[in-house]
Amino acid sequence: MNILNSKSLINHNTFKVHANAKFFLNVKNENDIIELLKEKKFKTYKKFILGGGSNILFTKNINGVVIHNQIKGINIKKETEKETTIEIGAGEIWDNVVQWSVENNLYGIENLSLIPGYAGAAPIQNIGAYGAELKDVFLELEGINLDTIKKNKFTKADCQFGYRNSIFKKKMKGKFIITKLQLVLSKKKKVNILYKGLHEAFKNTNIKEVTCKKIREKVIEIRRNKLPDPKKIGNAGSFFKNPIISERTLYRLQTKHPKVPFFQEKEEIKIPAAWLIEKCKWKGHTEKTCGVYNKHSLILINRGDATGKEILALANKIKKDIYENFNIQLEEEVNIS
Ligand code: EPU
Repeated sequence: MNILNSKSLINHNTFKVHANAKFFLNVKNENDIIELLKEKKFKTYKKFILGGGSNILFTKNINGVVIHNQIKGINIKKETEKETTIEIGAGEIWDNVVQWSVENNLYGIENLSLIPGYAGAAPIQNIGAYGAELKDVFLELEGINLDTIKKNKFTKADCQFGYRNSIFKKKMKGKFIITKLQLVLSKKKKVNILYKGLHEAFKNTNIKEVTCKKIREKVIEIRRNKLPDPKKIGNAGSFFKNPIISERTLYRLQTKHPKVPFFQEKEEIKIPAAWLIEKCKWKGHTEKTCGVYNKHSLILINRGDATGKEILALANKIKKDIYENFNIQLEEEVNIS
């Protein structure tokens, strides 16, 4: 076991903020994890599971063991006439999985192109974009319970998926390390381009046949145009979730802002947090070290040498302002540590 002491996490979080881990271990397989969990020296230390670091804001050092998931592999588990089930190591880069699926002409995750982070983090927050969510193709996952050191499986129902939510953000938070997951992808063409931004992007082209490859290309183009590249500007994607509001709140908003955008799915009404933030004039707001991205108001950015605490303070100011103006409480999408 090659445990590092006092390791900087600056290159392990896309916000690019400073934080140190007391101990840090790259794990390449299940045995590495089991060995670590059984080690006496580390028993009393908190375990912190890290993937690509693309959905986390560190506001302090980690006084425990950071377990960096490096379990790799994309394998075909089962094939039928219509579907292919794949098993993915949780330490695979998510977008490499999407690219692999598109190269193999498999449908289901192309709308989720270019989402940063590792595959193992995808079920934790049920990643979603452009009208698709991980849960739509998810079969099951496997991992190790940090308390019992036993392997466990979670089916789709066990995961309790919701909008950017799952059991791993609730009851099982911090208690389980995902080692692999299985997805069921379609061999038959099955496209989903109803999401407004995506639909419009296709409308203005002369593409005759919409395929998973074409969707991947379009999604990448849209994302590159409005979301900052974390390699260039520190950020963690959407900082807040889109709030779910009641019909009454929507009516109240509509009386003052007849054009307020909203999405309705079954009983749920969601409004874009980006719209609320823009209305309160935060878009492009800059502070000394951090700010709000000028092309998308849902993205907080590190403008240079921001600390996690500074970014969090900005987020809290935005939350307070939205609450005072709209009586709506924003919730972070990013994990704050
Ligand atoms: N809008 C504004 N101002 C802005 C940007 C957007 O008013 O600066 C309004 C517009 O009305 C626009 C609407 O917000 O039509 C929706 O914008 P967008 O399509 O960019 O989506 P979003 O709701 O802001 C969500 C996800 C994104 C995902 C996009 C596309 C959440 C918290 N975020 O954002 O996910 O890429 O949809 O599907 O649900 C992420 O999770 O990190 C992420 C980037």
